[in-house]
Amino acid sequence: MTQHSQASTVSLPQFPQSYWLDSVDQIPQFPSLTADLKTDVAVIGAGITGITTAYLLAKRGVKVVVLNAGRILGGTTGHTTAKVTTQHGLIYHEFLSHFGEEKTRLYYEANNEALSLIKNTVNELGIDCQFTEEDAYVYTSDEAYLNQLQDEYLAYGNLQIAADYLESNPLPFATKAAIRIRAQARFNPVPYLLRLIQEITQMGGQIFEGTTVVGATHEKPSTVKTKQGAQVTCDYVVTASHYPFNDIKGAYFTRLHAEKSYVIAARTEKTFPEGMYINAEQPSRSLRAVTIDGEPAVLIGGEGHKTGQGLCTHQYYENLQKFGEETFGLKEILYRWSAQDVFTLDKMPYIGRQFNDVPHLLMATGYRKWGMTNSMVAAMLNTKLIVGEQSPYEEVFTPHRFHADPSVKTFVMQNANVAKHFVAGKFDLQHKQPEELSTDEGSVVSVGGKRAGAYRDTSGELHVVDTTCTHLGCEVEWNDAERTWDCPCHGSRYSYQGDVIEGPAKKALTKLSL
Ligand code: FES
Repeated sequence: MTQHSQASTVSLPQFPQSYWLDSVDQIPQFPSLTADLKTDVAVIGAGITGITTAYLLAKRGVKVVVLNAGRILGGTTGHTTAKVTTQHGLIYHEFLSHFGEEKTRLYYEANNEALSLIKNTVNELGIDCQFTEEDAYVYTSDEAYLNQLQDEYLAYGNLQIAADYLESNPLPFATKAAIRIRAQARFNPVPYLLRLIQEITQMGGQIFEGTTVVGATHEKPSTVKTKQGAQVTCDYVVTASHYPFNDIKGAYFTRLHAEKSYVIAARTEKTFPEGMYINAEQPSRSLRAVTIDGEPAVLIGGEGHKTGQGLCTHQYYENLQKFGEETFGLKEILYRWSAQDVFTLDKMPYIGRQFNDVPHLLMATGYRKWGMTNSMVAAMLNTKLIVGEQSPYEEVFTPHRFHADPSVKTFVMQNANVAKHFVAGKFDLQHKQPEELSTDEGSVVSVGGKRAGAYRDTSGELHVVDTTCTHLGCEVEWNDAERTWDCPCHGSRYSYQGDVIEGPAKKALTKLSL
């Protein structure tokens, strides 16, 4: 494994592991779909969006089936910092100038309803998931960001969002100013969602794992086709995964990009104050308390970058560790993990009808890093569209706004960035030979004069793959902290054996033998 300088006596765990997923005794297993079936709605994706959508639909008496390519909760939902807040970094000032007051206000109201939905569900079902009300702060330690913070506060005023502008806050290190929104929340999403899953199945809903959806016909009823062969016939299809699986017509992959960010969970010397925090500047720092094994700990998140484009990934964890040491003092790092989030061109999620002329295919994606509330917005909005109710939020989130989008320039830049990585990867041929790799080391290598990827696992076995991404042919890069192959173009991720961890790719990397 690559060696990294570490002045600290506290060490990072060798392998990534999400505390949320580790906090429950067992994640229930569900079968693969092996026989054709009929239902009212097929939901594709078993993260927080898919599960909440299925739960809300089942409560309305709708027959629902959830199909997931891997294990439930294995994606971003199991790897979030799980802040439930309407304070999404600095966004309201920017949204006001892009979307105007009415739509920005609706974005806020939708997310505020989302916060209430989680709170009410926790209370209604009595879910034990560390749900705790806390104030949310966006702060800056950098004088240069004060103007932006003040603009954001003025935007809050325009939108009548109750908030305080503070010169000081409870953090134990120097900051210049902060904006506080009271009575937001944090929780552990895994026990919360496991309880919803229980409710879904009790109401007759069905969940299938290991079932990869590869297409859906556009007529109604639609036929959802799976890689494994079995099909689902249904009136509505909701895509609740990062990238829509049936994207040939919509070309959403050209309007979305994926970013990775990192989290460490640590015991600290200093007591963490009440509240949840995020800074306004870069590199990002997201902070909140958590209880692990009955003892207080702190989640320190941040270091976002485009997937497959960045530093050696260990460095991001080391940066968070250094920040933790300097601010709170670290006694022990209990967990480290990373998340992948998807961004739209204008930062507003795409929720609703995927195609204008096919009203029964719905989608939800592009929450940036604010998936806990935006997923609830998606579940509520898509449920209303399915049961035929009006929603004031439909137009704000519609995926078709692209044509009037103020971010056409972002579209051009984003796709130029993809093109750059597509070309650069092909001509980058100065590489090691696979035999040179040490135990637990991965790298782009040269095999027969061609670019390939290799990882030598902890038992010494060498795994060699073709590094051509099966989505659209960019070259994947090695992620040394997670032992994965990540695509810099649209964020597909593969295990070191080449299996798909995250789409839009659906096919594994080709395995090579030496
Ligand atoms: Fe699109 Fe790799 S994810 S080319």
